[in-house]
Amino acid sequence: MVSNTIAQKIKASSWIRKMFEEGERLRATYGVDNVFDFSLGNPNIEPPEHVKETLKKLALDNRPGFHRYMSNAGYLDTRTNVSDHIEKKTGIKLGPENIVMTSGAAGGLNVVLKSILDPSDEVIVFSPYFAEYLSYVDNHSGIPIISPCRLDTFEPDLDLLEQNLSPKTKAVILNSPNNPTGVIYRKETLEKMASLIASKEKDYNSQILVISDEPYSDILYDGAQLPHILKIFKNSVIVNSFSKSLAIPGERIGYIAINKKIDKADLLAQAFIYSNRILGFVNAPALFQRVIAESLNASLDINYYRKRRDLLYNHLIGLGYECNKPQGAFYLFPKALIEDDVEFVRRAADHNLLLVPGRGFGCPGYFRIAYCVSLQTIERSLPIFEALKKEFK
Ligand SMILES: Cc1ncc(COP(=O)(O)O)c(C=O)c1O
Repeated sequence: MVSNTIAQKIKASSWIRKMFEEGERLRATYGVDNVFDFSLGNPNIEPPEHVKETLKKLALDNRPGFHRYMSNAGYLDTRTNVSDHIEKKTGIKLGPENIVMTSGAAGGLNVVLKSILDPSDEVIVFSPYFAEYLSYVDNHSGIPIISPCRLDTFEPDLDLLEQNLSPKTKAVILNSPNNPTGVIYRKETLEKMASLIASKEKDYNSQILVISDEPYSDILYDGAQLPHILKIFKNSVIVNSFSKSLAIPGERIGYIAINKKIDKADLLAQAFIYSNRILGFVNAPALFQRVIAESLNASLDINYYRKRRDLLYNHLIGLGYECNKPQGAFYLFPKALIEDDVEFVRRAADHNLLLVPGRGFGCPGYFRIAYCVSLQTIERSLPIFEALKKEFK
C-alpha cells in the first residue's frame, strides 16, 4: 500500500525521532525518572496565563460563525494585529495584506516552498540545519543545496555560499536563532550575504528569496538583538510561529510576513494564500488565530531557559567539552568527545542519556542537547556528562 518513496523515507527517518523512540524504549525499561531525554525541542514550560485565560474566554464565545471557514489568508483582525506588532517591534511597516496565517512555521515553510519552486530549482540550506528543511524542499520538487557554516562561529561561510549559489538558486533558508546551535547570525554577516545574493541575482538575472525561519525569535539571552531580515534583504519573507515563543507547539499556529519591497509582493501573497489552501491546511486554526490576535504581547519568562542554558553550558565547559555559548533558542551543540558522533550518542544512551548526533543536522562530529526539559533532569544528568568525559579520556 505504502509508496516505495515513502517506505524508503521512513527507513531513513530523522535522528531526532530515532532518539525519541529510543527514549520510549528506555523509559519503559528503566522508568521515566531514570531516562534523561534531551532529544526533542518540545518546550516543557506551560503557556503564559494570558494565553490560557484568552483561550477560556474564547471557548465560551457563542457568536454565530465563530467556527466557520474564513479567508485562506486568515482573519483580517489577526493579520492586522500581527502586522502592527511587527511594526512596533521592528519599525517595519506592513499591512494585513502582507501577512498569511499558517499552521505553524512548518506549515508556513511548505506554503512558501510550494509557491516558489519549479522542479529542480535549488534551495540553499546552511548546515547544521533543522533536518526537516530537506524534506520540505523535496516535498515541492526542489533540490536542497547544503552550504556549510564556519565551524568556529556556526555562521554561514560566505565563500562557500558564493560557490553554491547558481542560476537555479530560488531560495536561501536562514534560521537564527539557530536550531541546533543557538547562534544568532550577526548583522554584518547578513549584510555581506545580502550584497552577495544581490550581485548573483544581477549576474543570473534571477530572483532569490531569503526565507527567514524564526520560531525562536523571542528566545534571546543576555540582551541579544535579532537583526531585522526584512530590512537587510529586499527579496525576503519571515516565517514565524508561536510554538516556542508561547510554548504551544501542539496548536499549530504561525504566520508568513512578506517584505513589501519585493516586486509583485501582492502576487506572492496570492500564491501563499493559494498554497495554504491546496496543501490542505485550508486556513490556520480559527480558535488559535483569535487567541493570537489578543496575545501578541504575552511572553514566557526567558530566565526559565537561561537558567537551564547556564547550568548545562557552565558544567560542560568546566569539564572540558568544546561548545559555543548559545545566544538564543534552547539548544547546545557541543563537539562530540570522539570523531564518530553516532557512536558517542550510542555510548551516552548506555547511561540513559539521550542526545542527537550532529550528522542528523548535516554536521558530523557534534551532538545536540535540547535543554527545554526540567531542571531536575538537567541536574541529574550532570554526573553522566562527567562520566562520559572520563570514559573518552
Ligand atoms: C528551526 C525550526 N523551524 C521550524 C520548526 C517548526 O516549528 P512549528 O511548530 O512552528 O511548525 C522548528 C521546530 O522545532 C524548528 O526548530
